[in-house]
Amino acid sequence: MSIPSALLWEGGELRLLDQRQLPHRVEYLRIDGIPAAVDAIATLAVRGAPAIGIAAAYALTVAARRSGDVAEVLKDGGDALIAARPTAVNLRWAVERMRGRGAREGSAAALADEAEAIHREDVAACRGIGEHGRDLIKPGSNLLTHCNAGALAVSELGTATAPMYLSHQAGVRFHVYVDETRPLFQGARLTAWELGAAGIDLTLICDNAAASLMAAGKIDLIIVGTDRVARNGDVVNKIGTLNLAVLANHFRVPFYVACPSSTFDPSTPSGREVIIEERTGDEVRQEHAADAAVFNPAFDVTPAALVTGIVTERGIARAPLERSLHELMEETVT
Ligand code: MRU
Repeated sequence: MSIPSALLWEGGELRLLDQRQLPHRVEYLRIDGIPAAVDAIATLAVRGAPAIGIAAAYALTVAARRSGDVAEVLKDGGDALIAARPTAVNLRWAVERMRGRGAREGSAAALADEAEAIHREDVAACRGIGEHGRDLIKPGSNLLTHCNAGALAVSELGTATAPMYLSHQAGVRFHVYVDETRPLFQGARLTAWELGAAGIDLTLICDNAAASLMAAGKIDLIIVGTDRVARNGDVVNKIGTLNLAVLANHFRVPFYVACPSSTFDPSTPSGREVIIEERTGDEVRQEHAADAAVFNPAFDVTPAALVTGIVTERGIARAPLERSLHELMEETVT
């Protein structure tokens, strides 16, 4: 992979690639405690469900080292981190995992060990997703993806992009349409950048071009990431994902979601119970509409019935999703 890592953990220091500046500038932010981490997560300097979980785990480690009061850092710092972005379950999952380790062994060294394990497992999960998902990509096919569920959002291979990277490395030729992903352009700024750097053939499109491409039979497969999969298989992901799923259903295009098992949230019965983050209207107004009232949800919920399959490191869950997810998650938990 020829793009810089989203997170660097070296000598006990955490640095985050400032994704707000991409693709124009490659700059790292040094995270010296909880407030800096909360700011980086809330302003999307670091973003993507697994990456914000990993960043939070390292930030708790850094803060615990500095304060010495591990219990307080895990309680108050953990709450502040979870509140920075409410939708992605990986953030809460990572904080809870750090709290569990802290409760068993209250040292900063143990926290560092746990954060590194979370990071390592994420790298392995992405590879597993790639291995389970690569056969979905047929030679000569056209894919469509939304937002950025790539290396920048996770670690190494990304989630939705992992089958693409492994297929590309194996010499399979295919092409990817990349939704620009308004309002923050994660597709245009991040996905097009990282797939392009890997040498994958791509075309950037406006989000609203997807319907006409599908109507023309030009999309064979859609793969997106997710911030949370509810117990019934409803998928929460970047706003606009639901549009694609409805279109895919209408035009009979396979619609796949890729995520590590840490994104599965059995404690949430369905997408209806998920808090959808709403962001400032300025992200939508930009320079086009100075005074307009704005509705700017960052995510939407795709009903399980519209999802062909969920690709995880444990295998692919297919309809009926509630049962197959349960079996997949239970089967491999030791
Ligand atoms: O608001 P963002 O950029 O954090 O949204 C990211 C997404 O919607 C991704 O698809 C999701 O987090 C999965 S990342 C592997």
